[in-house]
Formats: sequence, structure tokens, C-alpha cells
Amino acid sequence: MAASLQVFHSKLVRPFHTLSSRSSTPLRCSAAPPPSKSHSHRRYTITLLPGDGIGPEVISVAKDVLLLTGSLEGIKYDFREMLLGGAALDATGVPLPEETLSVAKQSDAVLLGAIGGYKWDKNEKHLKPETGLLQIRKGLQVFANLRPATVFPQLVDASTLKREIAEGVDLMVVRELTGGIYFGKPRGFGTNENGEEIGYNTEVYAAHEIDRIAHVAFKIAQKRQGRLCSVDKANVLEASMLWRKRVSAIAQKYPDVELSHMYVDNASMQLIRYPKQFDTIVTNNIFGDILSDEASMITGSIGMLPSASLGDSGPGLFEPIHGSAPDIAGQDKANPFATVLSAAMLLRYGLGEDKAAERIENAVLDTLNRGLRTADIYSAGTKLVGCKQLGEEILKSVESNVPAGAV
Ligand code: IPM
Ligand code: MG
Repeated sequence: MAASLQVFHSKLVRPFHTLSSRSSTPLRCSAAPPPSKSHSHRRYTITLLPGDGIGPEVISVAKDVLLLTGSLEGIKYDFREMLLGGAALDATGVPLPEETLSVAKQSDAVLLGAIGGYKWDKNEKHLKPETGLLQIRKGLQVFANLRPATVFPQLVDASTLKREIAEGVDLMVVRELTGGIYFGKPRGFGTNENGEEIGYNTEVYAAHEIDRIAHVAFKIAQKRQGRLCSVDKANVLEASMLWRKRVSAIAQKYPDVELSHMYVDNASMQLIRYPKQFDTIVTNNIFGDILSDEASMITGSIGMLPSASLGDSGPGLFEPIHGSAPDIAGQDKANPFATVLSAAMLLRYGLGEDKAAERIENAVLDTLNRGLRTADIYSAGTKLVGCKQLGEEILKSVESNVPAGAV
């Protein structure tokens, strides 16, 4: 099983410089050792969870990309394709079958497409595809969700923000993923003293949950530009007051990181006012959900952004941050870049295979440099292609292995 919470030094040039070059020592946040496969014979078990909507289309591209980079870098994979979300509901009646979780737990890393769709929207909560996603995050105990938002120079005009605001944005949202209001109890439906129907949830954080995500965020900030902004609502919420207190206390251990605090309403405004002020953001589950979607739009398309969810031990979960896009599912229109980049994160953070990760990241840049675009990132003068064709073009770029930055 792979050690998960490792934050490796990235040697890449922008725009993958989400962990940049302040130090050249690899950094590990995990008590577990890094995967120690001998260099000549590396074989990993990867659980693939295509899920719903465009999930299967983008996973199929990412799988081919993994296989080709693997063959070029001496890595072998055993893929186990399992059911999650709506696909699992249809086949088994539950959104996360036990078998899926146990296979995922036994693998070295998990690559997920997307879940959800109109068909299951009206299901009761325990029978929603989203519940399956939350259950697998909790089941794998992947509490740290890394969501980089990087503006690709080739796509800067796809941003809805002015060029001078969007250009050069390179930030990382570190979202707490297994606590807070998503999981807090009590929760449910009931009736109030007036007999009126109510729905309620609880935003709750224990000190250790804040401490462990704070450590991850400080370590990531150390590897980036050394600036960490903790986002909370400490002017109103007790859970945020504790959050701020713990993060501030932990800051003493990281004197090289400049810590600031921001209320979430201000942070959401600052993100579109002047996003370059941010380097690393750490925040709770729900604020991270919202801010990472907002940050993604600075980059032009949510179809470009990968994520990594890591725990203290056990496999990491890697997924694009976009959803299942049921409106374009099955039409060969999906943008596979975010999933392909998630596969690169899987290699880098999940398996410690930096060279293979770099090969994929270079291939993505090369494909963009060659002007190939899906509809969501298309602009005049570029070539519009479907998901499959883009996948084939990425494979060509993997083979030619053009270094990043070479245009
Ligand atoms: C995300 C998604 C999920 C979340 C949904 C699908 C449950 O929005 O990964 O950001 O809220 O975490
Ligand atoms: Mg979300």
C-alpha cells in the first residue's frame, strides 16, 4: 500500500509549480514510509472509479495515458475498475458497495472520474451518488484535499477575468475533507417548537482535525511561496474560532511560513479582485468546496483542474474537481485534461513516481501548445477536438516527451 501524505518537490516549470522550488528536499507529512519499489520493477494496483456522466470517458483517456507513461518509465499497473455513485446504485442498490471500498483500500491509489446525474437527483440522501463519494472519502480517511488552481499561459484568455488579473495565478486550496458540516452530528430533518418542518446540520471540528490539516497546509506552503492564508468565519462561528486558534498555534512551528487569516466572505471577494495575492489557502470542508470552484473559474475552465485527497496512510484518492456534466455525457465533448492531470498527481503524490508524473504534465502542456482544445477551452485559432481525439493527441505528446516550457 502506498504512503499517501507525501508532498514531493516539483522540479517543473510553471504552470505546474504548485509546489515550487524553495527547497529541494522531498517532504513527507506521513508517518508511513514512501512506496519503496525497486527502480527496475515497479508494479502498482490502481482502483479506477469511472462513476457517472462523463466519468467513464475521461477515465478511459487517463488510463491510456497512465499505461503509456508506465511502459516508457518501467511501471506496470494492475487496474481494478469498480462501481461508485449512480452506476453503483443502478447495479447494486447502494452508492458505495462494500467491495468497492475494500478493493480501493487495498490498492496503491484510487483514480475517480465523476459521480451524479439527473436520474438520481431526487433520491433520498442515503441513495444519492454524492453520498457514495463522501463515504469513500471518509472510508479512505483522506482528510487533506489539495486543489491547485493554476492559470495555463495558453488558456489565459479563457478566463472570465481580465488578462492582467488572471495571468500568473498559481494557488493551492487545501480543503479539509472528512469533517465539518458535511459529516457533523446532529443532522437531519425534524420539527421545531411551532410544528414547522426543519432541516439542520452541525459545523463541528475537533482540535486534532484542525491540527492535522494545518500541518499539511504549512508544509505545502513551505514548498511553495511560503504564504498561507487560513480562511474561516471566526467572527460568527465557534468552530471557526477554534480553527483560527489552532492554526495560529501551529504556525509557531513554521516560522518560515507567513500566516494570514481571512474571513470567507472577504476571501471569496479577494479571489476575484486580486487572486495573485494568494499562495496557499487552508480552509474547512464547506468553504473549501465553494472557494475551490470559484478559484477554478479564474483559470478559465473547471475542466482543467485536478485534485488529490490524501490521508496519513493508505491510498490517496485522485479526481478532477469537475462534476459528471450529464448534459454532455456520452457525446465525446468532455475535457479529459483534469483527469489526466489527476493521474499525474496520483503518480507524484500517491506513488512517488515524479518522473512519470512530469512526463504527463509535459504532455498536457505540449498538447495545449499544439493548439488542441475541447469545447470548454476552445478559442478562435485553436483546433476543436473531442475527448477521444484529445486523448490520442495527449498520447502522442507523451511519446514525444517535449520538456515543459518548450514551445
Ligand atoms: C466536490 C463536490 C462534492 C463536494 C459533491 C459532489 C458531494 O462538489 O468534490 O467539490 O461537495 O465535496
Ligand atoms: Mg464542489
